[in-house]
Amino acid sequence: MSPAVNSPHVVNIEDLRRIAQQRVPKAVFDYLDGGAEAELTLLENCRAFREVIFRPRSAIAIGECTVSTRVLGHELSIPAMLAPVGYSRLMHPGGEVAAARAAGEAGTGYILSTISGHKLEDVKAGSKGPVWYQLYLLGGREAAEGALDRARRAGFSALVITVDTPVAGFRERDPRNGMTELLGTSVFAKIPYLPDLLAHPGWLASFLFDGGVPRLENVVTPGKGAMELVDIAAALADAVVTWEDLRWIREVWPGPIVVKGLLTGDDARRAVDEGAAAVVVSNHGGRQLDSVSATLRALPEVVAAVNGQVEVLMDGGVRRGSDIVKALCLGARAVLIGRAYAYGLAAAGQAGVARALQILRIDVERTLRLLGCPSVAALDRSYIGVPRSWCVP
Ligand code: FNR
Repeated sequence: MSPAVNSPHVVNIEDLRRIAQQRVPKAVFDYLDGGAEAELTLLENCRAFREVIFRPRSAIAIGECTVSTRVLGHELSIPAMLAPVGYSRLMHPGGEVAAARAAGEAGTGYILSTISGHKLEDVKAGSKGPVWYQLYLLGGREAAEGALDRARRAGFSALVITVDTPVAGFRERDPRNGMTELLGTSVFAKIPYLPDLLAHPGWLASFLFDGGVPRLENVVTPGKGAMELVDIAAALADAVVTWEDLRWIREVWPGPIVVKGLLTGDDARRAVDEGAAAVVVSNHGGRQLDSVSATLRALPEVVAAVNGQVEVLMDGGVRRGSDIVKALCLGARAVLIGRAYAYGLAAAGQAGVARALQILRIDVERTLRLLGCPSVAALDRSYIGVPRSWCVP
C-alpha cells in the first residue's frame, strides 16, 4: 500500500479526499467531488445520515461479528459494492482495472461504467470478485448490443441500467474548469487551463505516459471504433433509457438486471414489474436533478413498495461505515459507494481504493459491536431513530 494512504494520519474517507485534492488537477478533482447546479442534493445526501441517530443495546458481548452479506447470490465481505464511476482513468491510469482489483481483493464487487477507459475484458480479468456492467445507451442500441455480448462472454454477472440520466446534469464546476476544452483536441483551447495541469506534475506525467485522454473502449460503433471521450455530453442527450428499452434489454441480456436511479415507490414497483432483480435507490450522488430527496430519506418508501420482491440497494453520501449501517437499518441489502472509493483511486490508485474499503470495513464492524448487534443481517429499524419529519412508512 502506498505510504501516503497507509499513514496513521489517514483515518477516514475525508483524509483520502484531501490527498486526492492535492494529487490531481482541480478540473479532475471537481469533476469527481462536485454535484449538479447548487449542489443541494449532494449536501443533503450526506446530511441525511447525520439526522439519523443510533439506539444501541448496551452490556452485550459479541464474539464473532458478521459483516458479510449476499447480494444477487454473491457473498460480499462487506455490505458495500463499488458504484459505476465514469472517467475513472482520468483520476489514475490504473482506473477501472485498479478499482475492480481492489474490490476483488477486499472480497466485494465492482460495477463498471459504460464511460470507461479500460477494456471490459481487462477489468473482469483483473478482479477476483463479482463484476457487473452499467449500461448507458451511448452510441445507440448497436453499440450497446456489442458491449453486452462482450460483457456476457467475459463473465460479468449482472447488468445495471441507470435510468436517471435522460441528459447529463449541469455540474457547474466543470465548465468553469474547462473540462470540455481539456478533453478536446484543440491545443489552443486548452491554453487557459494548462496552469492547473502543470501545477500537478506527478498526475500530468502519469496521464501523458498513459497516452492522454482515453477512448471509451466499451462503446464501439461498427465502422467507427471506440468512441472519443469528448463526445459524451452530446451522446448522453440521445441516450435516454425508457421502460420500453428495458424490455429489449431483457431479450439481449440473459442475466439479472439491476435498475439504478430510482427515488419513488411507484418507479420501484414499475422496475419490479419489468423484471428487475434488484433496484438501486440513487440520485446519482447529487449529479443529475438537483433538489431531489436525499437517498436515505427515499429508501424506506422504496423498501415498502417492493415489499421483499427484489433486493434494494442504495447509494449517495456514504462516507463512513456508520452510514452503511444506518442504510441497512432502513432496509437496504447493501450500499454502493461512489466518491468514497474514487477519492482513494485519485489519491493512490489501487492502494487508495483498498484503503477506502479497509476503513469502511473496520468502521462497520466497530459500529455493530458498539450497537450490540452481532451481524448486519440482524440490523433493523429498532437500532436507529429518525426525525419525526421523515415520512417513514
Ligand atoms: C458517478 N455516477 C455514475 N453512475 C452511473 O450509473 N454511471 C456513471 O458513469 C457514473 N459516473 C459517475 C462519476 C462520478 C465522478 C461520480 C462521483 C459518480 C454515480 C455513482 O454511480 C453513484 O450513484 C454515486 O457516486 C453515489 O454517490 P456518492 O457515493 O458518490 O455520494
